[in-house]
Amino acid sequence: MNRLRPSPPVPKPSSHQVFQPKTIIEPFRVKVVEPLPQPPRSERVEALAQAQFNLFSVPATKVTIDLMTDSGTSAMSQEQWAAIMRGDESYAGARSYFRFKETVQDLTGMEHIIPVHQGRAAEKILFSIMGGEGKAIPANTHFDTTRANVEFSGAEAIDFVIDEGLGPSTEHPFKGNVNTQKLASWLEENHSRVPLMVMTVTNNSGGGQPVSLENIRQTREVLQRWNIPLFLDCARFAENAWFIKMREKGQADRTPREITQEMFRLCDGAMMSAKKDGFGNIGGFLAINHDEIASECRNLLILTEGFPTYGGLAGRDLEALSVGLEEVLDEHYLDYRISSTAYLWNHLDRLGVPLLRPAGGHAVYLDGRTFLSHLDPAELPGQAVSVALFLEGGIRACEIGTVMFGKTRDDGLQEPSPMDLVRLAIPRRVYTQSHMDYVVEAVAHVYEKRDKLGGLRIVDEPPALRHFTCAFEPIDWDPFSA
Ligand code: F0G
Repeated sequence: MNRLRPSPPVPKPSSHQVFQPKTIIEPFRVKVVEPLPQPPRSERVEALAQAQFNLFSVPATKVTIDLMTDSGTSAMSQEQWAAIMRGDESYAGARSYFRFKETVQDLTGMEHIIPVHQGRAAEKILFSIMGGEGKAIPANTHFDTTRANVEFSGAEAIDFVIDEGLGPSTEHPFKGNVNTQKLASWLEENHSRVPLMVMTVTNNSGGGQPVSLENIRQTREVLQRWNIPLFLDCARFAENAWFIKMREKGQADRTPREITQEMFRLCDGAMMSAKKDGFGNIGGFLAINHDEIASECRNLLILTEGFPTYGGLAGRDLEALSVGLEEVLDEHYLDYRISSTAYLWNHLDRLGVPLLRPAGGHAVYLDGRTFLSHLDPAELPGQAVSVALFLEGGIRACEIGTVMFGKTRDDGLQEPSPMDLVRLAIPRRVYTQSHMDYVVEAVAHVYEKRDKLGGLRIVDEPPALRHFTCAFEPIDWDPFSA
């Protein structure tokens, strides 16, 4: 027995003895693995030809690193899988709904929580009720499905992002911000046809760039002059909150949850694709602080999605989302998440690859127009870069440019969009640092041979959201031998 022996004094570490790692590690261990497809180039050639150069038509088994989207592609945690087993599949009043409602209410402070199967279902319901002929919906930048749903209702979708948000190389800590002066003067003339405004956080179509709390506050003040509600398109609310913590004056000591709660407090409603910062493989919600609008939304929900306590989701999905919406605010996770996107960005920047500056939250965006500066924007440089990345490295990116937002004019030529970006979206908790090193190598390889790449033209397209299904052909060059 040595109980009475005094314990030796614990030496106080001097600061140089404390391990202060520079490496930001993945804050998880891997428990389940999925094989990575690594088909030979010849199979990619065949897949591309069959897909008519549209990467949405390429089977995932031909893709080695899939950076097409960060949506619905997250790896779920053990807590989420465990929660799935607790899913209550009752048609009405399921326990899982009440858990979901409580979680979202706590985050958003909103009264009415309406689950939907994904973000665009929320958009369809909201704009069917609030949109329509003659109306106009301002936003910082509408995401493609948001714009499509606004326009499908007959309303006009108008973007008011700051000028810095339109230039790939301009530096600004909050490139997703709204130009409130421009908005205010436009509202002088147009306020009577504006039923609501949308603020997308982070601003996906503008490069995953954040919006500051101050800008949300100022936008709200402008709207309040005309009693116009502000809705957050909050697919990536946690990433936005982290940028606010890192970059906005006076926010460093607040938790991501506190910042998130304030973002929502400044708004009257929210729509979320929970396939992003909800860590869900499916899901979303509408959150509204207005009894009548919520009641109309619920009525339409019953018609199109399902009963209001499941809204197109299974009870187990609601459980997984309730856990995900909590986990995503973990500071170790957010630090790792934003740092790993910056890691890819920094390595590509060092190689001189033209990038949208600064790094976004969920993605790195190549500036396709500068990358292939020998092409005219009408020759779809963003699509040409995406095709080359797939062909050379099996990397699937997503064009966010003229294919997605441009138009074929009556004379058959393309009306280009303001930028031709190529988005490398990073699924959450899925790929490791060595996967990203591989991506850097592949992009560097394509960049080195950029002079050999030619353009593409659209040979077949649907009337809306053409990028998903349109077909391309090369303009006088052979992509497979370039
Ligand atoms: N709003 C934003 C900002 C989005 O990024 C998305 C989807 C949606 C709404 C629509 O949500 O897909 O659940 O219906 N973005 C995905 C992407 C598709 O790849 O960026 P959804």
